[in-house]
Amino acid sequence: MLNLWFRICLLVYVMVGLMGGLPIGVEGLGVNWGTMATHKLPPKIVVQMLKDNGIGKVKLFDTEQSSMSVLAGSGIEVMVAIPNNMLATVADYDKAKDWVRHNVTRYNFNGGVKIKYVAVGNEPFLKSYNNSFLNITFPALQNIQNALNEAGLGDTIKATVPLNADVYESPQSNPVPSAGIFRSDISDLMTQIAQFLHQNNAPFTVNIYPFLSLYGNDNFPVDYAFFDGASAPVVDNGIQYTNVFDANYDTLVSALKAAGFGDLPILVGEVGWPTEGDKNANSNLAFRFYNGLLPRLAANKGTPLRPGYIEVYLFGLIDEDAKSVAPGNFERHWGIFRYDGQPKYPLDLSGQGQNKYLVAAQNVKYLPKKWCTFDPNAKNVSKLADNINYACTFADCTTLGYGSSCNGLDANGNASYAFNMYFQAQNQADLSCYFQGMAMVTTQNISQANCDFIIQIDSSSSPGHWHSSPLTLAVLVVSVLVML
Ligand SMILES: *[C@@H]1O[C@H](CO)[C@@H](O)[C@H](O)[C@H]1NC(C)=O
Ligand SMILES: *[C@@H]1O[C@H](CO)[C@@H](O)[C@H](O)[C@H]1NC(C)=O
Ligand SMILES: *[C@@H]1O[C@H](CO)[C@@H](O)[C@H](O)[C@H]1NC(C)=O
Ligand SMILES: *[C@@H]1O[C@H](CO)[C@@H](O)[C@H](O)[C@H]1NC(C)=O
Ligand SMILES: *[C@@H]1O[C@H](CO)[C@@H](O)[C@H](O)[C@H]1NC(C)=O
Ligand SMILES: *[C@@H]1O[C@H](CO)[C@@H](O)[C@H](O)[C@H]1NC(C)=O
Repeated sequence: MLNLWFRICLLVYVMVGLMGGLPIGVEGLGVNWGTMATHKLPPKIVVQMLKDNGIGKVKLFDTEQSSMSVLAGSGIEVMVAIPNNMLATVADYDKAKDWVRHNVTRYNFNGGVKIKYVAVGNEPFLKSYNNSFLNITFPALQNIQNALNEAGLGDTIKATVPLNADVYESPQSNPVPSAGIFRSDISDLMTQIAQFLHQNNAPFTVNIYPFLSLYGNDNFPVDYAFFDGASAPVVDNGIQYTNVFDANYDTLVSALKAAGFGDLPILVGEVGWPTEGDKNANSNLAFRFYNGLLPRLAANKGTPLRPGYIEVYLFGLIDEDAKSVAPGNFERHWGIFRYDGQPKYPLDLSGQGQNKYLVAAQNVKYLPKKWCTFDPNAKNVSKLADNINYACTFADCTTLGYGSSCNGLDANGNASYAFNMYFQAQNQADLSCYFQGMAMVTTQNISQANCDFIIQIDSSSSPGHWHSSPLTLAVLVVSVLVML
């Protein structure tokens, strides 16, 4: 028989859990919740999905009010963010204080948002940004942390700058992790940033992408991107590195040490694997990647130079069909969930390596089951290519490309796919399935083999009122009492 103390604890746990105060499940793992989608899942559904999967931490790319208001009272820890295009603004201290007041202090009340970090910019020193943010990022970081300190929040809320792993490197002559140093053009700046983070007990945040190592280099050994052993490990002072994640992370550890801040905590702001848009982007390889990463994180294995717990945010939560494809077609397919909150492959966030799927988003409303297809009886197809081009300019056709699940379609299939994506993106508006007489609407599912012709979600209507009411809560509590 259960002793009374245990029963009380269990009851309190169940009650708090039911009220959404406590994420039941994995400790420590976070996810990135980006919202660059033509049809966003309602924030309320997303937050419920986080809870259902025991995800207790989330990293945002802004402080959008609709997300913040549903995160309030959820118990989920939040990293809010200042986008790069606002760095110049908050490089002015008064503006930084306004930002903190409006976007942090406002949510800091009992039952508010549990803000833990403020991300100042997003990979601002990426080489492709041509130094645009070089002069303003450090002042912005200082101002935000100082404003947090002045508001009396500095002990619990830390400012940090999520940086791309290209801010550090090993010299070509000695390409091993222990030789890591900051990139020479920003070495002084990086040292100042590390010192400031150290003074404020704030973590260094880095995004590490083994997929991009593979994508950028045809000679990169595929096994080294994963965690199941590599035939030719990198040997460094007797340490065998069998995966690029550890090697990359330890290159940063060494760079920090060389700069005089070898103990600075490191947080991995983004890590993940995409499922479309490249020959190495698919569900099988994403499964392989996470199936190696998550058990290591759960076991607090750490890396050779930093054994132990690593704070990690997976990238990303949901596919984002409106992201720029400048980095590659894979950019819209990083989600551990599809655009509609359906899991793509088995993923065990508890790190036990069980072959199970995440809990899908609940109560998602879809548009009607109507597709737009190429009309095989179309009389004049001279403008077909132009029309496909038009559709794909305003909708996401990345899944048609090389290495993606719809790459094998024939010419008519390509046209149908493009037309349908446009039709769905336009919420199935009547005139959006015309294409100069070459398209028609059908209620037959025209999906092919592995290629899903999607129906978009209906993001116009609200998901209705389906949160636990006080009455259902009371009924549940009583049932638990009876059970005991
Ligand atoms: C709060 O953040 C949002 C962006 O997330 C920004 O548009 C707004 O200007 C900020 N408020 C202030 C007072 O800076
Ligand atoms: C950076 O410079 C290159 C070449 O000068 C240019 O093509 C590119 O558009 C610039 N990128 C940004 C973000 O300004
Ligand atoms: C940054 O500041 C330096 C020195 O003040 C200046 O020479 C440089 O042009 C600035 N860079 C940018 C991109 O504004
Ligand atoms: C087909 O359409 C194009 C432009 O839409 C037009 O120039 C051409 O004459 C048409 N061809 C026929 C056979 O009607
Ligand atoms: C279909 O479209 C893809 C992507 O643009 C292209 O690679 C492929 O060659 C096309 N197939 C046919 C049969 O036109
Ligand atoms: C259409 O068919 C595909 C493949 O059979 C299936 O996966 C998908 O769920 C179907 N879509 C709808 C909206 O029923």
